[in-house]
Amino acid sequence: MSEQIGSLLIVPGDGIGPEAMAQVQRIIDWMGDTLGKTIDTEYDLVGGAAIDAHGVPIHDDTMVKAQAVDAVLLGAVGGPKWDDLDFSIKPERGLLRLRSELGLFANLRPAVCFEALVDSSSLKPEVVAGLDIMIVRELTGGIYFGEPRGIEDMPDGQRRGFNTQTYTTNEIRRVAKVAFDLARKRDGRVTSCEKANVMESGILWREEVTKLHGEGYDDIELSHMYADNAAMQLVRAPKQFDVMVTDNLFGDILSDAAAMLTGSLGMLPSASLGAPDPATGRAKAMYEPVHGSAPDITGQGIANPIATIMSFAMALRYTFDQGDIADRIEDAVKTVLAKKIRTGDIMCDGAKQVGTEEMGTAIIAELNAA
Ligand code: IPM
Ligand code: MG
Repeated sequence: MSEQIGSLLIVPGDGIGPEAMAQVQRIIDWMGDTLGKTIDTEYDLVGGAAIDAHGVPIHDDTMVKAQAVDAVLLGAVGGPKWDDLDFSIKPERGLLRLRSELGLFANLRPAVCFEALVDSSSLKPEVVAGLDIMIVRELTGGIYFGEPRGIEDMPDGQRRGFNTQTYTTNEIRRVAKVAFDLARKRDGRVTSCEKANVMESGILWREEVTKLHGEGYDDIELSHMYADNAAMQLVRAPKQFDVMVTDNLFGDILSDAAAMLTGSLGMLPSASLGAPDPATGRAKAMYEPVHGSAPDITGQGIANPIATIMSFAMALRYTFDQGDIADRIEDAVKTVLAKKIRTGDIMCDGAKQVGTEEMGTAIIAELNAA
């Protein structure tokens, strides 16, 4: 008997996206064959791949599909081929459209340092060993989407570029709620980051997070930190953090810094969640690795597929209620790393260097062994 656990739209995108995604497809096949759990899967284009096919970074038909499925799994977007395109049709706009139109306001970016990779971090092992941070980044507001925005001509012949940082009460509260709820399942601590010393949106952010905290979250330890200090603390003593909650732009930057603490961007997944549907309780969701399209190594079969595989594991956990399979996949990855099977980006002395496909094979072998 096989059981259908839901529907998934896979948009591999550009660069190493498709290569990494091929390994996820093998795990989906394994789930069907071995566990009898199938996912109704469809593929489509995003980013440069969509530009080449349709002239737009994501087609309206793809958006319709994305709205209809339980979750979207995205590989990566962008590459030098599309760098000179007009801003409004750049590959990144496809990703931003998905985030915005699906209402995916909460971006969960775990930064976990795998024991086996402690030495791959550029920081001292004692600083990063056991690191487990969850960054909750606001994803549909702030300066990424704020109006007015543009580049305009000035009377004196100069040009002026401008963007708007804006946050409303509700935008702040709903993402802070996600952070508090997550902290409750973790170490019970939230650090909220903004620049309340220079930005009104930061003052409001701090006030609203504090207010929500007072409305039933007194079991959670809340602290506030200026975003620049948070960046510094992340590289000084990252283990002080449990959950960090911050806006779209600061979250973009802080999550890259946090990611690098763990030894490789090639390891880190992310989940972007919307509000739960009142009828089904299921939230719209998109899962994607934190790394980009890595054009420098595209097509060589050497990319690390682990972040994409772990993104799929997050989908199993948060969308498809298959936490046990997610655990199995994460354990399989840990075992493979402990056996010193490595792609080039996480290579170390005495390890066996493998390519993308071999890494997939090694993980599936562990899934079968468990
Ligand atoms: C990320 C990326 C994106 C962002 C880009 C590709 C638009 O850097 O997901 O962190 O800035 O949000
Ligand atoms: Mg980024």
